[in-house]
Amino acid sequence: MLLSQKPVEDLTVAEAEEELARLAAEIAEHDRRYHEEDAPTISDAEYDALRQRNQAIENRFPELTRTDSPSLRVGSQVSEKFEKVRHAVPMLSLDNTFSEEGVAEFADRVRRFLRLSAETAIPMTAEPKIDGLSLSLRYENGRLVHAATRGDGFVGENVTPNARTISDIPNRLKGDAPDVLEVRGEVYMRHDDFAELNRRNGEAGKQTFANPRNAAAGSLRQLDPSVTTERPLRFFAYAWGEVSQMPAATQHGMLQAFERFGFAVNPLTRLLDSVGALIAHYRSIEERRASLGYDIDGVVYKVDDIVLQGRLGFVSRSPRWAIAHKFAAEKGITVVRDIELNVGRTGTLNPLAKLAPVTVGGVVVTNATLHNEDYIAGLDSKGRPIREGRDIRIGDTVVIQRAGDVIPQILDVLIDKRPADAQPWKMPERCPACGSHAVREDGEAVRRCTGGLICSAQAVERIKHFVSRNAMDIEGFGEKYAQFLFDEGLLRTPADIFTLREKAAELKSAVFRRREALAAAREQASGAKRKASLREEDRNFRDVENLLAAIEERRRVPFARFVFALGIRHVGETNAKRLARFYVSFANLRESISQAVPPQGKGDPGNAQWQELNAVGGIGGTVAEALVEFFREPHNLDVVDRLTKEVTVEDEEAGGPVSSPVAGKTVVFTGALERMSRDEAKSMAERLGAKVSGSVSKKTDLVVAGPGAGSKLKQASEFGVEVIDEDGWFTLVGA
Ligand code: IVH
Repeated sequence: MLLSQKPVEDLTVAEAEEELARLAAEIAEHDRRYHEEDAPTISDAEYDALRQRNQAIENRFPELTRTDSPSLRVGSQVSEKFEKVRHAVPMLSLDNTFSEEGVAEFADRVRRFLRLSAETAIPMTAEPKIDGLSLSLRYENGRLVHAATRGDGFVGENVTPNARTISDIPNRLKGDAPDVLEVRGEVYMRHDDFAELNRRNGEAGKQTFANPRNAAAGSLRQLDPSVTTERPLRFFAYAWGEVSQMPAATQHGMLQAFERFGFAVNPLTRLLDSVGALIAHYRSIEERRASLGYDIDGVVYKVDDIVLQGRLGFVSRSPRWAIAHKFAAEKGITVVRDIELNVGRTGTLNPLAKLAPVTVGGVVVTNATLHNEDYIAGLDSKGRPIREGRDIRIGDTVVIQRAGDVIPQILDVLIDKRPADAQPWKMPERCPACGSHAVREDGEAVRRCTGGLICSAQAVERIKHFVSRNAMDIEGFGEKYAQFLFDEGLLRTPADIFTLREKAAELKSAVFRRREALAAAREQASGAKRKASLREEDRNFRDVENLLAAIEERRRVPFARFVFALGIRHVGETNAKRLARFYVSFANLRESISQAVPPQGKGDPGNAQWQELNAVGGIGGTVAEALVEFFREPHNLDVVDRLTKEVTVEDEEAGGPVSSPVAGKTVVFTGALERMSRDEAKSMAERLGAKVSGSVSKKTDLVVAGPGAGSKLKQASEFGVEVIDEDGWFTLVGA
């Protein structure tokens, strides 16, 4: 080892410079052995000592810090180091389709929502979908003030100094730009620049990248902008966030304005007015895909008129006015080594194919989803043959496809290559985790373990869900600790998480025992891979205090997150938000739903709490039943009540924007509407902060009645509820 013994205080400038160069090369080599070969040649302590020495020298001679210094190389923890920025307007994602029918359905959906006839043309832009990473650039008075990555869509990372080094991104806007303008688009790297970067880095023993997108992401998220400067990044503008004064009324007009302000806009963008024309353009882009010089993964269609975009609004996290038409997924051929069964949170037995590793589109694939037993047998959900009825067996050679980040699928089985002894796979009738019967109910494709509360696999999955990023978001918990703490008997339900601190001593000794076992296994292990994986696992257990601190940070939680975290069937993030907005406080929801009684027979409407639950906009019968079932189960109530003793569930702010005259009100639409579809009426009211209900009760504030309204109008007059017509609605909301 090249570690100098001379104290840092005694180093001359020349010695320091020389040693920093040596340390940079040496640490880079150890990183490579560790990350790329899984074959480290020094101990963790020795490695840490090298980094500390490097840091100590840099502290004394900051001006000698090298651009390739290990202190600036950050790998995956990079996100902790950037300042967070909240987006003024969220950065959302796009719904997507892989088929031409999907595009036609999209256009129909848009027309139906806007109540336009099937013949009405809706001009749309078609733009390539650039495969890079999105970036939001905020300009004030024509100057770039900050640049932020997408992050989770609401909060991104401040990468301003890096964005300033990209030549496609103007520091000052040209022309008559609005005072506040957020331009959004994609940072990407061209194929030739990518190849050159990898060649240069490879020769210098530095990091190389699997594909241009990773290279672009790694380059933009560098702590040292001087590294970014050397990376050939590019940028196409295609969308916007906050804008003080819109420079155009259409999507294509906005793109033209971006060009005037000094941005690059993709030259293959077209304004078209029929589905046929969109598809023809898609095909021509697909033909040119290989010769573009940069990666694209589809074509994005956007309704051109920005007023219509506003009326269409959003569903969950994607705009109703746009869709990504993705190119067919990439394919590969490999062998099924095994079929594993995972037990999901609700007891579903999920078969998973373990594959011989194969690279598909630059990513190594080792798993493919098998959905359910019919799918493995060669049948679709309606019992019709798929893959011409060929089943999937262990040992089979299969064609797989990978699309985006989703788990790969098996497209076909190469029957000629099937080994003579390959046996058809059979779904077991018992749960592999708890041995309970696994049953398949009528009309369901999946088989479920009936073990419920006694099934350990379900319990662990529920805990993993509870702590996951979009639920309670307890960092590092799910992957590393859920199974371990469960096996150690320290955790049975999510309610035990917040009292773990009381068991800190037991927890630490369990971790100690586990690390000793891992160390012993490492001594025994042969093979660099196995050793490295044991070392990785050991790393997971170094931070018990961090874990406890991460738990403490989540003692306050937004209502909707908490409801989502409970893992109630059919209650995803969107439904959790609907419930939170409606019930305002969790105590109110718990009280009301646990008293709800569904209809007991024909003509019985269910009790008041049941009707109230069904009046929550977007919550239908299946979801309502799942909620009632959850809150009827004493064990669930016990978990919920223990949790609410430990954590504060924040109340949801009632209503929407303060300025709206219908914020917080309950509105019922009835009869025929002429100026908008029912869906648009509902979405508009919800955007203005109102609750939309399907039935009139004494809690209704307003009924909007069109021609032909009947019983609801009568009920409104019985309850003394205000009634207006459609024009009255538009006057009221000022639209
Ligand atoms: S529009 C509200 N246009 O695709 C919609 N996105 O899957 C904003 N992307 O996060 C996005 N090319 O990173 C739009 N021409 C394009 C795009 C594009 C690439 C990316 C973008 C977005 C992702 C959604």
